[in-house]
Amino acid sequence: MKNWNKHFDEKAFAVIKADDFISLKYVKKEIYNFSVRELNLKNINMYKFFNSFHELNIDNLKLNQYRLKLINFLTKKKIFKKKLYKSFEKSISKILGEDIAVQKSLNVVIHQPRNLDFSPIHRDGPENSPYEIVLWLPLTDCYKTKSIYLLNKTLTENNLKYLDTKKKSHQILLNKKLKKYGKLPKIKFGEAVVFWSCLLHSVPENIENETRWTFNLRLKNLFTPYGKKGFLDYFEILKTSGLSNFGIDFEKKNY
Ligand SMILES: [Fe+2]
Repeated sequence: MKNWNKHFDEKAFAVIKADDFISLKYVKKEIYNFSVRELNLKNINMYKFFNSFHELNIDNLKLNQYRLKLINFLTKKKIFKKKLYKSFEKSISKILGEDIAVQKSLNVVIHQPRNLDFSPIHRDGPENSPYEIVLWLPLTDCYKTKSIYLLNKTLTENNLKYLDTKKKSHQILLNKKLKKYGKLPKIKFGEAVVFWSCLLHSVPENIENETRWTFNLRLKNLFTPYGKKGFLDYFEILKTSGLSNFGIDFEKKNY
């Protein structure tokens, strides 16, 4: 997306390109290596593993155990969050500055075709801080129903009245608007959607014949207000600026 910066300031979302593709590929390869070991897979290349994951036909119990282990593996080593951040660092620091807090748990969502377990249209804020962004980062090329739908800032404001009502007609209307105005172009591996936490969004049922793999990484400036998902409970420090390091050093030594 050309002028993604201007697009983000106006619409509260943008499609950004990785400026460090090697870091992104490192995370993808580590997931592949972990999974091949964990699921005891043989003769499956990386492309097939991710896109045709559903063809492995893993039963629900085993899938759940594998998912929990994978999330644990990705969460406990901070290098994965650092690598994902580094992949898009130039763009993210333009939005958030140099002092960054990141969501503690690193969750990768595996959405197999025809799986009906997905969130209805919603917004993450204000339960999550309105000073927060979501980095929706696919590990496979995402197109059509493999992609995400979201309403820009103006459309979100105009349609919020239809959210949180129990009326079925409102929910249908909201979904229609989302499909009409919120469709995103193909998001290739190496790109990500960055969006403001308060935008209405939804990930549709995947009816393509490929599995969708996405990270939902929540990031904010360390020194901005937190929502109900507070600092240290849900967030940790990812990076501090040189000036903040001086300040922290000063407070520690109290000189
Ligand atoms: Fe969400």
